Amino acid sequence: MNRIDAILHDPVFLRIKAAVIGATGLAYYADKDAALAERINRRLSDKPTLSLAAYLAQLAAEGPTGPEYQALINELTVGETFFFRYAEQFEALCAVAIPECLRRNRESRLLRIWSAGCSIGPEAYTLEILLKRHFADQLRDWQVSIVGTDLNASFIETARRGVYGNWAVRGLDPAVLAECFDRKGDLWAVKPRFREWTSFSVFNLVDGPLPNYPRGLGALDVVLCRNVMIYFDEPTRTRLLDNLHEVLVPNGWLVVGHAETGQQVNSLFTPVPVPGATIYRKPRPGGAPTAALPVFTPTLAVEPPPAAEPKFTESKPAGPKPVKKRSAATAPVARLRATTAKPAPSLAVAASEGDRAAALDACIALAERNRLDPVVHFRLGLLEEELGVGDPIAAFKRALYLDSDFALADYHLALAYWRRGKLAPAQRHFRNARATVAAHDATELVAEGGGLTVAELRSMIDLWFSGEEP
Ligand SMILES: C[S@@+](CC[C@H](N)C(=O)[O-])C[C@H]1O[C@@H](n2cnc3c(N)ncnc32)[C@H](O)[C@@H]1O
Repeated sequence: MNRIDAILHDPVFLRIKAAVIGATGLAYYADKDAALAERINRRLSDKPTLSLAAYLAQLAAEGPTGPEYQALINELTVGETFFFRYAEQFEALCAVAIPECLRRNRESRLLRIWSAGCSIGPEAYTLEILLKRHFADQLRDWQVSIVGTDLNASFIETARRGVYGNWAVRGLDPAVLAECFDRKGDLWAVKPRFREWTSFSVFNLVDGPLPNYPRGLGALDVVLCRNVMIYFDEPTRTRLLDNLHEVLVPNGWLVVGHAETGQQVNSLFTPVPVPGATIYRKPRPGGAPTAALPVFTPTLAVEPPPAAEPKFTESKPAGPKPVKKRSAATAPVARLRATTAKPAPSLAVAASEGDRAAALDACIALAERNRLDPVVHFRLGLLEEELGVGDPIAAFKRALYLDSDFALADYHLALAYWRRGKLAPAQRHFRNARATVAAHDATELVAEGGGLTVAELRSMIDLWFSGEEP
């Protein structure tokens, strides 16, 4: 019998497993005995005479912050992370949450952000980079703190060094790399100016209530806890979510990983759908989370087409339309209804680069064949924006030229301007979108919204203006 089998068959193994899961929350190992035994074996490889019972006694005596416990935690934790991971969530923070915090905290001039389960730190540094790139002027004279915490002390040491290999910066635009990192041989060091607000501490998320955390981690404006809860069981997730709710200020923002959304989060927080991502908001005192808004992912009615024949739904060509003077009162209800176009998978699930290129080609061909159909120009705009190619602003403008009451075209044009730092036209088009939907019934469906109602679109637009909860 080899050592791993011996560990698996030792009756103490189950006690170690229970102890480790209890201390770290890593219920992921509950049904992965072989993996757990293999990791314990790595720790025992230089201790051939140590029995499992003695090892358990040592762990129990030290607790999770002790050196051997930490070495085992180092074996058990999965620290996968990289800079700008899930860029659309960071975009949603910059588009909606941070501007709202800036308005809300303009008196105190404090901004507090927590990256909970930060691994080796890219999530926290990404936040500082984004805040400095997009909000430097507004944050002048503010006290900003971004705290990254993790159970794994060696991850925290790496985070504090702020020096990374290629893996952590994969996919970054060379211009961003040059702006934010100093090259050190094969490594990338976060530039000192992006390390001024960020600090790191070891902290166990499942170890008691968070508000008691002694480093001032209360009254948080934003918490990111992404790809951490997936390793926990349901009761641990529930406890943690309660605690995260507690440490956020009313109206504060929570971001979780894509696999961590669902009823548990919705029962405490209000989902706020922003194109490309859903972020969560703690309701004001006394306010229950509002009925969850449906997640609004712009449905690009474009499927990867087979080589010969574009497979996506062609919407009926609209006849030539004069550009109308914008008047909400005269806005045709039809433009607000969902079109008959078949909803198709979002491009986010398109399989490969090849599919995406083919979808784009097909969409361009369709727009050329249906030059007078605002919907195809709108969809082309969405696709170009998502792929970062072409001229999405021009495509949205064409859609609006053909139908000046196309509320979602105004909305996406506004977002496109906002992403390019053009705030004045962004505001103008948010206003236009608001004016277009103003006269319509709250329950009407918005054209091309994949089920989005007028009320929901209004809430999304209002966030940009007031930061108030829908
Ligand atoms: C996959 S990483 C996620 C990193 C980052 N949030 C991201 O999404 O890129 C998960 C992190 O959660 C940490 N973690 C696991 N259990 C934890 C606990 N009980 N307390 C604090 N951190 C924990 C792990 O050490 C690991 O660094």
